[in-house]
Amino acid sequence: MALERTLSIVKPDAFEKGHAGAIIAHLEKEGFRVKGMRLLTQTRPQAEGFYAEHRGRAFFDELTAFMSRGPVVVMCLEREDAIAKYREVIGATDPAAAAAGTIRKLYGASKGENAVHGSDSLASAVREIGYYFPGCEVSSSAAL
Ligand code: RTP
Ligand code: MG
Repeated sequence: MALERTLSIVKPDAFEKGHAGAIIAHLEKEGFRVKGMRLLTQTRPQAEGFYAEHRGRAFFDELTAFMSRGPVVVMCLEREDAIAKYREVIGATDPAAAAAGTIRKLYGASKGENAVHGSDSLASAVREIGYYFPGCEVSSSAAL
């Protein structure tokens, strides 16, 4: 296991419902350290750029409209084995299929509005952290 960083987003549905604090606390209890944090409302092009890998998919328009409809909390999180551990803690994409106690089971409403995003690989984490935290917010000595 290595010390890693991953990119987390508290999505607009969770922020609207006032769940951002509980989600951040849940992640801290699981050993994630917040290394960078921003509150922002994305433009549609910003959301489209972030989810560029899904361009052309049937859900792309719905996904990018959703992700730009209101504030999100974007975080760079660090812990041992952060990328895989974070995906374990958030649970399956569809909250109905997510394991009990996971963030998506607790706070997600549907496959589209599933409370949180998480990087799915080391390459994604590097790209996604750079997308929101260019420059000094994330230490360049990070073990990515
Ligand atoms: P994320 O990127 O947001 O962490 O989610 P994920 O890896 O678990 O799932 P991914 O396949 O990357 O899909 C990105 C987001 O698109 C929405 N989605 N909707 N209606 C659908 O069939 C569908 N499929 C995916 C979800 O909001 C998913 O989180
Ligand atoms: Mg994904």
